[in-house]
Amino acid sequence: MNQEIARRRTFAIIAHPDAGKTSLTEKLLLFGGQIQVAGAVKSNKIKKTATSDWMDIEKQRGISVTTSVMEFDYHDYKVNILDTPGHQDFAEDTYRTLTAVDSVIIVVDGAKGVETQTRKLMEVCRMRNTPVIIFVNKMDREAKDPFDLLDELEEELVISVRPLTWPIESGQRFKGVYNIYENKLNLFQPSKQVVTEKVEVDIHTEELDRHIGKPLADKLRGELELIEGVYPEFNVEDYLKGDTAPVFFGSALNNFGVQELLDCFVEIAPSPRPVTAVERTVQPDETKFTGFVFKITANIDPNHRSCVAFCKVCSGKFARNTPYLHVRHNKTLRFSSPTQFMAQRKTTVDEAWAGDIIGLPDNGTFKIGDTLTEGEQLHFKGLPSFSPEMFKYIENADPMKTKQLNKGIDQLMDEGVAQLFVNQFNGRKIIGTVGQLQFEVIQYRLENEYNAKCRWEPVSLYKACWIESDDPAELEAFKKRKYQYMAKDREGRDVFLADSGYVLQMAQMDFKHIKFHFTSEF
Ligand code: G4P
Repeated sequence: MNQEIARRRTFAIIAHPDAGKTSLTEKLLLFGGQIQVAGAVKSNKIKKTATSDWMDIEKQRGISVTTSVMEFDYHDYKVNILDTPGHQDFAEDTYRTLTAVDSVIIVVDGAKGVETQTRKLMEVCRMRNTPVIIFVNKMDREAKDPFDLLDELEEELVISVRPLTWPIESGQRFKGVYNIYENKLNLFQPSKQVVTEKVEVDIHTEELDRHIGKPLADKLRGELELIEGVYPEFNVEDYLKGDTAPVFFGSALNNFGVQELLDCFVEIAPSPRPVTAVERTVQPDETKFTGFVFKITANIDPNHRSCVAFCKVCSGKFARNTPYLHVRHNKTLRFSSPTQFMAQRKTTVDEAWAGDIIGLPDNGTFKIGDTLTEGEQLHFKGLPSFSPEMFKYIENADPMKTKQLNKGIDQLMDEGVAQLFVNQFNGRKIIGTVGQLQFEVIQYRLENEYNAKCRWEPVSLYKACWIESDDPAELEAFKKRKYQYMAKDREGRDVFLADSGYVLQMAQMDFKHIKFHFTSEF
């Protein structure tokens, strides 16, 4: 069992839309032998046109159901890639996926550098000390100066970096990358299918001049010297702690520099890490199975309305048709058709090990964060909700269908589509999301799956913060003063709905003993 667990590498690729996540994923699958030709993997990106037909979005999202997890064997390793939605309106989905991975690869566009979405996702990685590797993509296009890029990465992502490969020019003049890790020169040949040959060269000899010309060879020597002088030796421990990120340069589209990344990744990336539960920390090599649900995806086929709950195996071995305890319901369940995912196929699996992701057919039995065990009362932590950025009142548009509406809202919230707050002053329900698209998703799905109609009404809010205090009197005083803005989340926790940044700031100043949290877990 220990061997099985040690060879697993479960990770996610994160990037700002268009940086090259899909291209990189595809090349990794190519190395894993899961696909034979480039171009086989379609982006699960949602078209950015504002007018895109909602059904289109749903179809596109549907595609990502089967490709949510991709797994393949590479050398002695079993690699599990967790896909994350390309559209930023589904960022919450990505945050949750990050709770199920042991490490992360960040793709950055060499010309654009660090972009908003990357910055946000990195914050989540930092909260969890997730080890990250950075891949600077699109070096076949005119890119920023690599030293400037490294500075930008350090500054914007708040992590120290260490280049392990180094680009020789970019754009039209792009010659290739020098592999600092293996002391090899990797010459660039634009091609989507062919893996370029590597040349082992001693950079101090004329051989290097022969390959890339004397001026560039001299420049490279100088830059490598500078790197050795400026950046400390790469230390795997620092990477595993989440303090240092190794950096690779390449071009995903041309399958260039990707193998270096993959080879280094499988070697240094962590095998499944211990997972914290409320009761204790669970080690991956414990013999008994434990796992948690981090994502639920609806099936778009109206004839098969079941969902798939994605469960990360945290410890031990999961086996098909074995009774497991659903801790929240205190009920024993057996799964006769758990699935695992190959590039574009789904297959039924008989067993899975810590680090693996299994898909469990779900008809409303699961909720994000649910724990499965062999009988132990365990509750995994680490699935925080983040304060939403957009808020709307949800109103019933068909009084005959109140029951359906409430059931629909309930189930959609269990799936983690959005967050629900109930205003304690007027009893109205407020839905909070990170993007406009989610409101459309909710309305559409309520109609199509629950036969209920809703209507949105505007509410002007800035943030929802979870509040706590060790001074009960002050907490009461605050709630009294802000009674119009107090709400409860679905777990019954107190949430303050601040209608502007200024109001929030004033509240923080006036009530010194109250802590305002922007995530639900503190
Ligand atoms: P994403 O999933 O992160 O959103 O990015 P994706 O891989 O879909 O790449 C976004 C665009 O950038 C695509 O172009 C892709 O071909 C291009 N691209 C990715 N990697 C490289 C690279 O290394 N070099 C260059 N020059 N381009 C790259 P597109 O025009 O949007 O799509 P397509 O028509 O090429 O499919």
